[in-house]
Amino acid sequence: MRSLILRMFLATASGAWLLLCAGPAGAQPAQATGCETCHRNEASESLSAPARDFALADVHRDRGFTCVNCHGGDPNATDKAAAKAPATGFRGKPSGQAVIAVCSNCHSDAALMRKYAPRQRVDQAAEYATSVHGQQLAKGDTKVATCVSCHGAHGVRLVSDAQSPVYPLNVATTCTKCHGDAEHMKGYTLNGGPLPTDQGEKYAKSVHHAAMVERSDLSAPTCNDCHGNHGAAPPGVDAIANVCGTCHTVFATKFALSTHAAIFERGCVECHNNHDILEPTDAMVGTDEKALCSTCHSEGDNGHKAAMAMRAGIEKLKAAISHSEEQVAAVENAGIEMGDEALTVREAANHLTVARTELHAFDPAAVQAVLDEGLGLTTKVDEAAAAAQSELSFRRTGLAISLAAILLVVVALQLKIRTLKPHA
Ligand code: HEC
Ligand code: HEC
Ligand code: HEC
Ligand code: HEC
Ligand code: HEC
Ligand code: HEC
Ligand code: HEC
Ligand code: HEC
Ligand code: HEC
Repeated sequence: MRSLILRMFLATASGAWLLLCAGPAGAQPAQATGCETCHRNEASESLSAPARDFALADVHRDRGFTCVNCHGGDPNATDKAAAKAPATGFRGKPSGQAVIAVCSNCHSDAALMRKYAPRQRVDQAAEYATSVHGQQLAKGDTKVATCVSCHGAHGVRLVSDAQSPVYPLNVATTCTKCHGDAEHMKGYTLNGGPLPTDQGEKYAKSVHHAAMVERSDLSAPTCNDCHGNHGAAPPGVDAIANVCGTCHTVFATKFALSTHAAIFERGCVECHNNHDILEPTDAMVGTDEKALCSTCHSEGDNGHKAAMAMRAGIEKLKAAISHSEEQVAAVENAGIEMGDEALTVREAANHLTVARTELHAFDPAAVQAVLDEGLGLTTKVDEAAAAAQSELSFRRTGLAISLAAILLVVVALQLKIRTLKPHA
């Protein structure tokens, strides 16, 4: 009897506990509703998939929400008509602006969101409204992206989940669903021509894609890092023209000093492109046909002269570095330790890297100053290597002399021994 009372008490207590947990900041996943149960068994894919995806993995379900938080209706009814009676506030399938309204119901409500994720932004809908997507939607264009194009509606995952469509490695696929589909993007224009649909293809060839996909460097940018998560900044907006500098700050600081910065509308993009950014090479600097500078500069102008001077300086330091490397290797092969000199050569190579950064001010004198420091280092290494070489040949001569002396002594001893041998 006592144990029955105890058990009843425990059951009530845990029931109350469950109720508490299912409150606003419910940490408990929601129970299946009448909606979910019926929909899961519907024959048509478009009716059953929402229920299945929602049950499988959904951040909203995990926080205790159900179908009715987005669709309205009576969650407890098992009859279709009752579940969707007008008095239940059932909204059906939202589309267009109604999608934004459904999602921002919570995501723009700072007080509500604070209970679940205190540091999460609540400006997604506000930002979205300023984007090309949002502006076009407001004009009635339903081919643009809404919240569900990028996040889904059922089976919504945390953005940090590797399976989320907006996880860094998946973003390009999410955007190119539309932006790589010429049929979907037909009719849109940019600067008088059709809006290109090659962003994904070009991005796949870029240094950034290589860094992110091949080297798992998630600090490299994908579509949303340059265009904004919700802003979809188009060409011509300052934020997009200056986006490279948010990560490549030193390059941007140098570039700001240059004549180019004042005249290039697209900044870095004029020389590196936006989507197909390839690995830069020294061959880009120069005056031959293939050099980048030659696309705008020609013989006689200051840009042409600067290109020639900077390339010559870079080549000179490169040659000096490989010469020093050979000297150091030769001495080390002979068994003399040159660790310090090997480090100095590496430091000279760092100067080469710094020069390629300094180049962005497009001031040949500033580049030359860095290159000269590098040349100073290789000169020091060459001197040390030469000293080691002469030390080596001095030691070799010394060795030869002492070997000869030892040989002489051995011969002399031999002769002496022979004279001492008793005659048989
Ligand atoms: C007994 C089965 C059943 C229940 C319970 C049920 N539905 Fe449905 N639902 C359907 C069927 C069948 C359709 C297809 C349209 C129709 O027949 O009215 C549908 C259609 C829908 C649609 C699409 C409407 C459109 O405009 O295309 C949504 C959204 C939806 N249901 C949500 C819900 C929600 C939310 C609940 C719970 C409050 C719920 N359903 C409860 C069977 C059910
Ligand atoms: C986070 C909000 C949210 C929740 C929770 C949610 N839905 Fe939806 N649902 C939407 C939105 C938005 C759409 C429109 C999606 C679109 O246009 O792709 C939609 C579409 C649908 C459709 C129409 C699908 C189609 O392709 O025509 C059905 C049916 C549906 N939901 C049922 C459900 C059921 C059942 C649940 C609960 C198991 C549920 N939804 C939970 C937001 C939600
Ligand atoms: C064009 C695609 C796109 C659209 C449209 C979009 N989002 Fe996002 N959303 C993203 C990306 C990308 C991220 C960031 C992922 C990351 O941080 O790595 C994100 C992040 C989020 C986050 C996490 C918090 C944050 O702000 O970083 C929430 C919540 C969110 N979006 C809700 C929404 C809502 C609500 C809408 C509709 C008003 C919407 N999103 C429209 C792509 C989109
Ligand atoms: C009933 C309130 C509510 C509605 C409606 C709602 N959300 Fe959420 N959403 C939340 C809460 C609460 C979280 C959990 C935040 C957390 O814990 O990080 C969340 C999380 C998210 C996340 C993951 C954010 C992260 O931290 O990674 C995304 C993405 C998201 N929602 C998108 C949507 C989209 C798209 C819609 C509309 C189809 C929508 N939400 C509708 C309340 C809601
Ligand atoms: C559902 C389809 C769809 C998805 C998904 C989508 N977009 Fe869009 N996007 C469009 C359409 C349609 C336009 C309108 C083009 C116009 O009006 O010029 C557009 C416009 C843009 C523009 C402005 C182009 C211009 O100059 O007009 C940018 C930038 C952009 N999207 C970036 C993105 C990024 C980044 C993503 C992914 C995070 C993305 N979009 C996902 C359909 C989509
Ligand atoms: C490294 C930054 C960066 C990345 C990554 C990036 N973009 Fe862009 N994108 C830009 C810049 C900068 C412009 C504007 C160039 C200009 O002013 O002409 C642009 C322009 C665009 C445009 C306008 C049309 C065009 O091609 O010029 C669209 C659409 C677009 N990007 C979509 C995307 C999509 C989709 C992805 C991912 C596959 C992506 N972008 C990745 C920087 C980037
Ligand atoms: C979100 C940060 C970020 C943004 C924005 C960004 N980059 Fe990068 N970039 C990186 C990372 C990370 C790497 C790869 C690491 C590395 O090789 O230095 C990289 C590599 C590069 C490289 C190759 C460097 C090398 O030594 O081979 C070039 C060139 C480059 N980015 C140019 C640009 C341009 C131009 C833009 C603007 C259109 C831009 N980046 C925008 C982070 C960024
Ligand atoms: C006038 C053309 C031009 C402009 C504008 C320009 N760059 Fe460069 N950039 C170059 C050239 C040429 C190289 C190759 C230098 C070399 O390898 O000798 C280069 C190399 C780079 C590298 C690789 C450096 C290395 O160590 O290999 C990065 C990163 C880079 N640029 C970023 C930027 C950023 C960010 C901007 C804008 C703030 C920018 N560039 C603007 C011409 C330009
Ligand atoms: C997209 C066209 C373009 C490219 C590519 C370009 N420049 Fe320029 N550059 C200009 C223009 C325009 C000016 C300003 C007019 C002038 O002085 O010729 C300029 C000015 C300069 C100046 C300043 C000249 C002065 O009189 O002060 C230098 C130096 C320069 N460029 C070097 C280079 C080098 C080196 C490269 C290759 C890495 C290069 N530029 C690539 C267009 C370009």
